Amino acid sequence: MATVSQGDLIELEIEKFADKGKSLARVDGYVVFVEGAVPGDHVKAYVHRTKSSHAEAKLDTLLDPSDLRVEPRCRYAAPCGGCTWQHVDYEAQLEMKQQSVAEALEHHTGFEDVDVRPTIGSPKQFFYRNKMDFDFSADRWLTRDEIETEKDFDTDFALGLHVPGNFFKVLDLQECHLHSELSVRLVNGIRDFVKENEWQPWDIRNHEGFLRHLVLRTGEQTGDCMVNLVTHGAPEDRISAFADFLQEDFPEVTTFIHTNHTGKSQNPEGEEQVIFGPGLIYDEIGDYRFEISPGSFFQTSTLQAEQLYEVARDFADVQPSDRLYDLYCGTGTISLFMSEHVDEVVGAELVEAAVADARTNAEMNDVDNCTFVSGDLKELFTPDFVETHGRPDALIVDPPRAGMHKDVVAQIADLAPERFVYVSCNPQTQVRDLERLRDVYRVDAVQPVDMFPHTPHVENVVRLTAHGARGEG
Ligand SMILES: C[S@@+](CC[C@H](N)C(=O)[O-])C[C@H]1O[C@@H](n2cnc3c(N)ncnc32)[C@H](O)[C@@H]1O
Repeated sequence: MATVSQGDLIELEIEKFADKGKSLARVDGYVVFVEGAVPGDHVKAYVHRTKSSHAEAKLDTLLDPSDLRVEPRCRYAAPCGGCTWQHVDYEAQLEMKQQSVAEALEHHTGFEDVDVRPTIGSPKQFFYRNKMDFDFSADRWLTRDEIETEKDFDTDFALGLHVPGNFFKVLDLQECHLHSELSVRLVNGIRDFVKENEWQPWDIRNHEGFLRHLVLRTGEQTGDCMVNLVTHGAPEDRISAFADFLQEDFPEVTTFIHTNHTGKSQNPEGEEQVIFGPGLIYDEIGDYRFEISPGSFFQTSTLQAEQLYEVARDFADVQPSDRLYDLYCGTGTISLFMSEHVDEVVGAELVEAAVADARTNAEMNDVDNCTFVSGDLKELFTPDFVETHGRPDALIVDPPRAGMHKDVVAQIADLAPERFVYVSCNPQTQVRDLERLRDVYRVDAVQPVDMFPHTPHVENVVRLTAHGARGEG
């Protein structure tokens, strides 16, 4: 029995990466998950939780660093929740993502001999995001470095990101390497402007204050830039002063939206008003142009989305005579990307606004072979749906993190189109769904794609072929 107790400071040799960006070490066989450590590190770690199966600990002192460590680029890398892995060599991050997909498959029977390809790296390791949501807060988190300067900080104002695990406190970010150089300038310029004008940030405990969120979106391929300022209340003089400030100091901003959010939820939602510009931006994936309004879902890394869709297209082996189903189609990005290679695409999606965007996007790109349907797939995807739209030759699914409802999986098993591609942002639920399809499909290829460098998130594409299909030996 291990002698690890809550509150202990213990010395550990880190063995390997584990789930959620943590690493794994053992004490006499007893597993300890360590936050902030890297395989090969020799560390002192503080144990904050013990269970019969394992303990949870946080890196306290780095006694001997691993060769996989690199110097983080950002001063906030350790306390900020944006980049858990900036201190890890990028090649090692890619290997870890490949390993996590392989382990998800190994935990289920029937996938023992499946090869997982090396993870496709992101064309940009920094500044790869096209959207960032920042929060204003009346409760600033001070980093260890900031405290050590012994300077006097205004702890009643912050504009930045929440520290992980803390609902109230926000890091006042002066730099960030995820979005664009413009995004950093905007955050710093906006902070100076609102502080000069003594506008109050939102106090999450008392539900008081004016400034709530700042959502910045940019078009990677178009240079468009949207600023969405979310406040509690909408005093006209303030909104027009803010618009004047943006137009004077940031001519790169192509549209400004003000959102009045008087509710208690912490989501950047509410009554939107376009103050200047068209109220939307454009971006491009491959040869296709997409309209992005404040509430639209759009792949966060435009450049890597193109590589992801290319993998999906190659895996689906699309043919000019194909009827392709694109389930969980969002704003129709995969459908449009495939449209020129097939006869017809049928896209289905829960959110009506996304389906409306998908139709607009098809029209804007002069694409007339895509049909989009809205509804919850667990009710929508029935034999009637297939009767109405015709049997698919190939199927692509890209569900949310929870994976597919079992009724959707059962309907796929009944239909069994020969070629089936499963794109997922959660290999655990993906493998669960695939196990349910084992009697119908074999797994041919597995390709992880890195959409989010410096985070443990992994996107994974699986190609399946129906048993008894052409080429089956
Ligand atoms: C990971 S996104 C994929 C979007 C799109 N394929 C893309 O690449 O932009 C998953 C999509 O599934 C949709 N969705 C979630 N639950 C659903 C359900 N029960 N039925 C239909 N669509 C659903 C979400 O609204 C979201 O647009």
